[in-house]
Amino acid sequence: MSKSKIINKIKINKETFDLYLTEKKIQARSRYLASKINKKFADKDPIFICVLNGAFIFFSDLIRHINIDCEVDFLKLSSYGDAKISSGNVTLIKDLNCEVRNRNIIMVEDIVDTGLSMRYIKNLVMAHHPKSFSVVTLLIKPDSLKYDIKIDYFGFKIPNKFVVGYGLDYAQKARNLRSIYQLKTNGKA
Ligand code: IMP
Repeated sequence: MSKSKIINKIKINKETFDLYLTEKKIQARSRYLASKINKKFADKDPIFICVLNGAFIFFSDLIRHINIDCEVDFLKLSSYGDAKISSGNVTLIKDLNCEVRNRNIIMVEDIVDTGLSMRYIKNLVMAHHPKSFSVVTLLIKPDSLKYDIKIDYFGFKIPNKFVVGYGLDYAQKARNLRSIYQLKTNGKA
């Protein structure tokens, strides 16, 4: 890991976010999740699917700790736009580009909030008859979950507060940060 100065506080659109999960913690957890997946999916040649945009950094870190035969693909859904709360609608912006039938599919998400996006993704993938469907997400907000979603692997359970960094954005900003930051003031706006 390259040495870089730890930033404790950031500001986006006049809102303050405090350091919440350090790069070191995230990296250790990604390695751990990858080791579990390596064991479970050895000889199963899974397809890892990155949910764009938010999961792109977690996906690239996780996949480099995967040491079994595998493939990758990308799916893009509509984002929150500039808001901190889901519109309640999901639309597909980029569909899968792989043959799902009879394959072991592992979805890689940055965060499961209400679970709406993952429910949409599951319906989409299951329509193509995979051999198995698993979900790995870096973050989950259990108090925010509205849909019954099975999460097979998660990095951290977090409170219902908006977070940015490490791929996650607020108004498209902060995706580039190495750590995860939590909104300081009154949670969701
Ligand atoms: P869900 O459909 O409500 O589960 O929301 C999933 C998507 O919303 C994630 O893939 C993120 O793109 C976005 N999202 C949810 N919570 C946050 C957050 O705290 N920060 C940034 N994006 C979030």
